[in-house]
Amino acid sequence: MLKTLLPLLLLALAMPLVSGQDDDETPLTRAMGVLQGSTRALGKVVEDPAQRDEALRLLGLMEEAALISAGQAAPTPDGMEGTELALFQVGFRRACLSLADAILEAEAACIAGNAEGLKAAYATILQRKKAGHNAYK
Ligand code: HEM
Repeated sequence: MLKTLLPLLLLALAMPLVSGQDDDETPLTRAMGVLQGSTRALGKVVEDPAQRDEALRLLGLMEEAALISAGQAAPTPDGMEGTELALFQVGFRRACLSLADAILEAEAACIAGNAEGLKAAYATILQRKKAGHNAYK
């Protein structure tokens, strides 16, 4: 009996490692993960005009992740409730949409071949990340 069950038990224990699944993962943390990976990758190609297609691909992923985030709620700060909490959550969604707006600005600059505009929009994306985390993380 133990001989048959043991391999199954070991497999079950190894599954989360194999699939990379994380029980704490939520749609928001998943979207943030996508933002993190794509923002970093974008930083490496943002100044290279030969990599505009790659920049645009990454910006598309970031846009989708920012819009998914805007449909989520930020974790509730300890003790916050009622009107204060409702306003906090509205602020969170607005901050996600303002990140999406900066991403769209970068996409437009990328499509138009506006190198300076793309660099400026990338800097705005980083600022909005910082502001968002200061206020809501
Ligand atoms: C390019 C922009 C951004 C990047 C790269 C980014 C990256 C990340 C990363 C890596 C995490 C940790 C995820 C985890 O725990 O697995 C995180 C969490 C979080 N971020 Fe962002 N973020 C960005 C923008 C924003 C903005 C604009 C906001 C607010 C409007 C925001 C709010 C949060 C919150 C609330 C969490 C905690 C989520 C939770 O623990 O449930 N982030 N972010």
